Amino acid sequence: MAHPAHYREAHPLVFVITHWINLISMVALACSGFYIHYPFFSGFMGVARGMHFFFMYVLIINLTLRIVLAFFVKSATVLGSREVDTDIKNWLPQKANVHQFGAWIKYYTFFKKDHPLGAKYGVLQKGSYILTVPLTFLMAYTGFCIYSPVMDWGFFQAGLNLVNGPMNMRIIHYFCMWVFIIFTAIHAYLANVEGVAPSRLIFAWKEEEGLHFDADGNPAGGKSH
Ligand code: HEM
Ligand code: HEM
Repeated sequence: MAHPAHYREAHPLVFVITHWINLISMVALACSGFYIHYPFFSGFMGVARGMHFFFMYVLIINLTLRIVLAFFVKSATVLGSREVDTDIKNWLPQKANVHQFGAWIKYYTFFKKDHPLGAKYGVLQKGSYILTVPLTFLMAYTGFCIYSPVMDWGFFQAGLNLVNGPMNMRIIHYFCMWVFIIFTAIHAYLANVEGVAPSRLIFAWKEEEGLHFDADGNPAGGKSH
């Protein structure tokens, strides 16, 4: 099956770093959070809470930085191209995404072998990546609502009143962890389903040659694998 090339321009180094920091923080928060919820061995609670209270700030600062950088850093906006434009364009509706929703569904449900060619991110990919932003902020909000130093602030009290107290908020925070775990499982699977080239790029910043496309999105020579 033909793959587009995976060029560094698709993920400039700074986004390779933000992806790493996000992944490390998520793992640290999920592990420490799971222990706080269910301390299946003793003597680790102080460390688990300390880890959680540290990485929650790392996660929020990293996400905020990633969003701000989207307006300043240029990245490839066309699949398999080195041509760059402001990164935020990858996160807004693009012309190349239009009328591809059906084609992507067919691809994911195995009715169609090759995936549609167009923008850097497919319709569902773009949608699900964007959803991780409000979900991370929801995680932060529900987390701060059960964080004693700030839970009596009006902003968090409003949320606590809405869900009838911290115990329910804790359950929502815990439930969201599973949403993240399921997202990550699907994301890691789909990101590698056609080969490890995308992962080599986002983790090691290594390029992979593949099929090249001209400005109209037509294959223009190059080898495929
Ligand atoms: C984004 C910022 C976050 C903040 C501000 C935050 C804050 C907190 C706080 C204050 C607690 C209670 C700790 C205690 O009182 O001992 C907690 C528990 C927990 N957190 Fe977070 N957290 C955040 C992100 C995350 C993430 C990303 C995950 C998982 C992927 C997570 C999973 C959990 C779990 C499972 C618990 C235990 C809940 C329970 O007792 O049922 N948290 N968090
Ligand atoms: C097992 C761990 C993970 C693997 C193997 C993985 C793999 C990848 C790959 C290959 C890409 C590039 C996709 C492409 O160019 O088509 C990517 C991007 C992305 N991943 Fe992950 N990922 C992992 C963990 C996570 C986690 C935990 C999150 C968030 C909760 C996440 C959110 C994202 C986002 C938002 C992007 C877009 C990156 C950007 O433009 O800044 N990933 N990931």
